[in-house]
Amino acid sequence: MNLLIIGAPGAGKGTMSERIMDDYHLIHVSTGDMLRAAVKNETAVGLKAQEYMNRGELVPDEIIHDIIVERFSQDDMEAGFLFDGYPRTYAQAVDLDEILKQLGKKLDCVINLNIEDQELIERITGRRLCPACGEIYNIYTKPSKVEGVCDRCGESLIQRKDDNLESLQVRLSEYHKNTQPVIEYYQELGIVKDVDASKDKEDVYSDIRDILEGLC
Ligand code: AP5
Repeated sequence: MNLLIIGAPGAGKGTMSERIMDDYHLIHVSTGDMLRAAVKNETAVGLKAQEYMNRGELVPDEIIHDIIVERFSQDDMEAGFLFDGYPRTYAQAVDLDEILKQLGKKLDCVINLNIEDQELIERITGRRLCPACGEIYNIYTKPSKVEGVCDRCGESLIQRKDDNLESLQVRLSEYHKNTQPVIEYYQELGIVKDVDASKDKEDVYSDIRDILEGLC
């Protein structure tokens, strides 16, 4: 099964991807995570991407093309994949179609997480992350037991550089301008399933599970 999860910043793509991966054993491909790793490791891609990301802007399509092609060259993608945060522009969606066609693969479903912009402020400004195990917290809705420390592995939690109000406004504007057309592109192909992402996490995941069970 090859899936894509799409939605505004803070809609819950990463949170739901963790659950989907656990239950369906798909390879999680998050371009945001890949870019943050490149920034941390100070690779050529990371150095180019850093400023765009900090401002909340999209990284240029050519850079994203290169990291996706490189990711597909790894054998584990044969098992089925879950794209998170990619494609994010019309050009990336067309490019992905071409890449998949060449590999003899196709997308089975696009899970579209719907939520109003104003509900995302607390989610984004309150988010904290474990840099070691990747666990996602929120100081308002899902705090760690000990403030600033990961429940799972004991590492100190961090806040992403782009998780502030200023960058969020830019990220939302990029989303509406560039990523909504991607959703329309997949709607025309008839593979989009809409999910109300404003619900409680368990209810959101239950709705996603119902969709995926229908595909299996
Ligand atoms: P990326 O890392 O993809 O960030 P994003 O799209 O802004 O999404 P987030 O990771 O912020 O949110 P999420 O939807 O995963 O929410 P989460 O589950 O963590 O991209 C970052 C940057 O990289 C981009 O701005 C761009 O610069 C660049 N980039 C990446 N891909 C690119 C591409 N393809 N092209 C160009 N540039 C690219 O949840 C958020 C919070 O809400 C958490 O605290 C969580 O606990 C909480 N929460 C989640 N669900 C619920 C719920 N149902 N109820 C209550 N709280 C909830």
